[in-house]
Amino acid sequence: MKILQELLSELEENLQKYEIFEEIDFKISKTADFDYQINNLVKYQNHEKINSISENFSSILSQSNNIEKFEFADNLFINLKLNLNKISSFINNLEETNLVQDSKRILIDYGGPNIGKPLHVGHLRSLNIGRSLKKLNELIGNKVTTDIHLGDWGMPVAQIISFCELNEIDIKSLSADQLIDIYPQSADLYKNSEEFKKQAQIINKKLNQSEKEVINKWEFLRKISIEDLKKTLKILNHDFDLWHGESSVNHLIEPMIESLKKEGKVDYDEGALVSTEDADPKILITKSDGSYLYLTTDLATILDRLDSNDFDTTLYVVDSRQKLHFEQLFKTVEYFNFEKRDFTHVDFGTINDEEGKPFKTRDGGTKKLLSLYDDTFKYINKINENIDNETIHKLTNTVLTYSDLLTNRKTDYKFNIKKFTNISGKTGIYIQYAQVRAKKILNKSKINLDNKELSISTISERNLIISLLNLELYIKQSITFNEPHHLANYLYEVCNLFNVFYQEENILSLDNHELKTSKLLLTKYFLDNINLVFNSLGLEPVDEM
Ligand code: ARG
Repeated sequence: MKILQELLSELEENLQKYEIFEEIDFKISKTADFDYQINNLVKYQNHEKINSISENFSSILSQSNNIEKFEFADNLFINLKLNLNKISSFINNLEETNLVQDSKRILIDYGGPNIGKPLHVGHLRSLNIGRSLKKLNELIGNKVTTDIHLGDWGMPVAQIISFCELNEIDIKSLSADQLIDIYPQSADLYKNSEEFKKQAQIINKKLNQSEKEVINKWEFLRKISIEDLKKTLKILNHDFDLWHGESSVNHLIEPMIESLKKEGKVDYDEGALVSTEDADPKILITKSDGSYLYLTTDLATILDRLDSNDFDTTLYVVDSRQKLHFEQLFKTVEYFNFEKRDFTHVDFGTINDEEGKPFKTRDGGTKKLLSLYDDTFKYINKINENIDNETIHKLTNTVLTYSDLLTNRKTDYKFNIKKFTNISGKTGIYIQYAQVRAKKILNKSKINLDNKELSISTISERNLIISLLNLELYIKQSITFNEPHHLANYLYEVCNLFNVFYQEENILSLDNHELKTSKLLLTKYFLDNINLVFNSLGLEPVDEM
């Protein structure tokens, strides 16, 4: 944080005189009287020169123009209150923070739908978290590539093709909707009919051998599925750089396995190929019938990504049920000596219905994401009959995104439409309303705010400013832990403080021009700040409400 940086450096330099080389960390204070606290120096409280260090600190802090008051709550546990009167121009420009770093190359693997299936409610969190991590990383200067990583190969595809053959359905005449009906039927048949299972296995083999006729059918299935997915994703305001999938790396699997065999990294175990690393359970690379597993494809995908783009970090935004899979994947990558890179499984819990049960349609099927969108759209429309459809659409996406990102990603939550659309609750509607208010008074005032100065006259103004200053801390926290909920909660908090400030006085009717200008300027800073947060969370601000 710019205003504290100089001060902290001075304190750090002072510590060095005592042979203490420590980066001073500051946190938001938990007490109402102070803004920040320094608590990572407490470990030196038994230092032989502690008194002299404290004296030096006191003298540095008392001389600082940016500190209004400070207090040693304990030895070297320091509470700080900023002096905001000295701030003539406001720092909410991220360029001026040290958040913007050298650009890292990051791949984010998220979404992960399977062809033949529509996007369903289970995809919502991966989409929301993935998009937010993309925006956040771009914000701090990282170079992000996103890959939807389709499940577009193997048994599920073979099942659909076999089902169509059996029922004499011409694949090329299928619509996306028909395909969606076929998927569960073929999966059922595969489970219940030995004969169908054999047939699907034959097709799967042909698929792996790239037999022309089967490949043609597969290509068609993939095409209609992708068109359908893209339509839904467009409504939900998502896009991806890469539409790779399991099929993209099929050709890399054979050579990968051959070289692993040569290196002794894999060996046969009752017909199956397993990693020779000592692990419990054993890590399976291919099944005993020679077919590939989910892990096999993910290993080849890593090789492919290393080869094509050489990413520093890969984030897999996939639900917590796949924890073991990713643990095995990362462990195996290390054992196989693929190049050393950073891999993280950004896992998340389940979204359930209002009663806490898995989301289902009335007939027990999986609930489509588009149908959740429609329900939400209708619900918001009913409460706000006078708002245009484009705005309702944006509000719908705000609700579907914001309520999702607010929750710590590791916890499950219940989708409660009434609660999530409440205008006075911690909701997407509330935050949209706050920014519409801010926009409205700025538009109405018509005062030019260039080169104007901020002066602080009330507690609520002060609280709002401090909160705006804290933006960078929340961005940092969200990026460090791949947890957008810190920023989402911050957004609510800052909107809340804005509302208190807004309701304190009718800004537009103030006679004192200077006071009015200052308040409008603060409103503008609020708006600039939260526009950035909206964008980082994948939300689109509306103009009218
Ligand atoms: N398609 C997978 C599924 O439905 C998710 C893919 C996640 N990404 C990955 N590289 N494994 O479970």
